[in-house]
Amino acid sequence: LQEMEAAGPPTQPPAPHPLVAPLSFLLGKWRGEGEGTFPSIVPFRYGEEILFSHHPSKPVISYTQRTWKAASGDPMHAESGYWRPRPDGSVEVVIAQSTGLTEVQTGSYDSEKKTVTLQSELIGNAAKVKQITRAFQVVDGELSYVVQMATITNSLQPHLKALLKRI
Ligand code: HEM
Repeated sequence: LQEMEAAGPPTQPPAPHPLVAPLSFLLGKWRGEGEGTFPSIVPFRYGEEILFSHHPSKPVISYTQRTWKAASGDPMHAESGYWRPRPDGSVEVVIAQSTGLTEVQTGSYDSEKKTVTLQSELIGNAAKVKQITRAFQVVDGELSYVVQMATITNSLQPHLKALLKRI
């Protein structure tokens, strides 16, 4: 312990795992607002917080998200999972939703444009949802995303759009 203290605290955060590095534009805590729509529902506004975190020894990013009603602050949907960048440059994401729905998503990223696009490979425990796509982008330090879904009654179209700032 004395030796560690003698070495002093690190002056910079440790470099991310090499597989995580190209996705490091996502890392950190984000907060913002979104809007939900779908042909079968009344549009709604929500607040949202997202945390992307990782440990440099693991090639994985932990993901947690929670949302609340814009008007009252009451909790809405929440979800969490793991983003797993793969050596071939693709990324695999598993997500468990507070509604009980589970997703396995695969897709690609562009570390220059700071974009990630995902589409569902597998959806479990869903009564209505057939397909989900997720597209993320970081522009001028702001994270935006669009989530689209297809259900048993409606074709693939936007359900969620949000814009978050790093906090
Ligand atoms: C409605 C799925 C994320 C809030 C719905 C419906 C589905 C669905 C299937 C019913 C549509 C219909 O009956 O035709 C999903 C999926 C999500 C997601 C797959 C993520 C990938 C969210 C989030 C929120 C939210 C993040 C809140 C911030 C709502 C609301 C409704 C709704 C308020 C309408 C009322 C209701 O049916 O409960 N969603 N949703 N959803 N969703 Fe989502």
